[in-house]
Amino acid sequence: MHLGRPPVTPGGPVNSPVVMSSTFQQGGRLMYGRDGNPTWESLEEVLGGLEGGSALVFASGMAAIAAVMEMLPVPGRVVVAGDAYNGTRRFLTDVSGRGRLRFRTVDVTDTAATLTACAEVVEAPGRPSGAPGQFGDRGLLWLESPTNPLLAVADLEALIDGAHQLGMDVAVDNTFATPLLQRPLDLGADVIVHSATKLLAGHSDVVLGATVVRRDDLVESLAVRRSLHGAIAGPWEAWLVLRGVRTLSVRVERAQANAGELARRLAKHPHVETVRYPGLPDHPGHALACRQMRGFGTMVAFDVAGGAVAAEAVVGAVRLATAGTSLGGVETLIERRGRWAGEQGLPPGLLRMSVGIEDVEDLWRDLDMALQVAAG
Ligand SMILES: Cc1ncc(COP(=O)(O)O)c(C=O)c1O
Repeated sequence: MHLGRPPVTPGGPVNSPVVMSSTFQQGGRLMYGRDGNPTWESLEEVLGGLEGGSALVFASGMAAIAAVMEMLPVPGRVVVAGDAYNGTRRFLTDVSGRGRLRFRTVDVTDTAATLTACAEVVEAPGRPSGAPGQFGDRGLLWLESPTNPLLAVADLEALIDGAHQLGMDVAVDNTFATPLLQRPLDLGADVIVHSATKLLAGHSDVVLGATVVRRDDLVESLAVRRSLHGAIAGPWEAWLVLRGVRTLSVRVERAQANAGELARRLAKHPHVETVRYPGLPDHPGHALACRQMRGFGTMVAFDVAGGAVAAEAVVGAVRLATAGTSLGGVETLIERRGRWAGEQGLPPGLLRMSVGIEDVEDLWRDLDMALQVAAG
């Protein structure tokens, strides 16, 4: 609420302005708009404060992800959650196809298997170029929890600890949880990335990303990547996220309460086979989520009885929820994830729902009606 504001000056503005300037007058700290901007800095102060580190904003979540991967030596070695965000996996496939890194996918809910894969990657022949001790010199473990879209929960502390013992660095995509529900830097993570497009911004009106780190060497290296690759945020976009993030706590509280209620009702619905929500006591990651998170989040996934056809019928029948991708806005979004290339391994009837802040009874009436329509 209070970070990222101008200094207290009688008669001064309460909010940071949108600074639309590609260059700055000589002699000060800021010089050129690709290297820094006061509106970015206001947002960075907020995001850094929330995660407990130093934040940098990027043009998108993918730009932040790419900047982290670009810090790796060549060929980089990455172990990644098998159901990490599909853009992250597509990025890795693209880059590995050009020989710049090798990656292995793992089931991050299986801590022992994930750490065994990490050990194999660390021991694999063919040392990457680059000075020992640079980021990811011995490999990078890329984690997401809860995962997208299966909402599996990974034991972040055990995985981060184990990977560090092997000399690997660890990045966590904290988009789903937000720093209000989980702070991976406190659990030892080296880098956090965010698609600020989602809950941080909160209104489905802007695309923006961020990294947050505690290590000075990493802030500098990421700032260099941002400047050289040019994947910078517009000041206006940064301001929109700054405005959105002010209400993050009330939005998350309401959407999360809605998500929990819908998950409980869906679990009893005759046309639903499986509900994936870490807040449900029978979710395999429930106990871990209780330990690791301050809440179970705003995302619910569920498998509709009748597979892909029935699930698409639900998406086609909803009237209040919006059929569409993305997440974290004030409005409920629903989609069948299996419709995307790269998501073919998912249960065909799996719907991912980003729960918004509407009245929960309105949402339930809508969902129940759509499930009845789909069941014929
Ligand atoms: C978990 C997660 N990480 C990263 C991204 C990429 O972010 P952006 O779309 O802002 O580039 C997304 C986008 O959906 C996401 O869901």
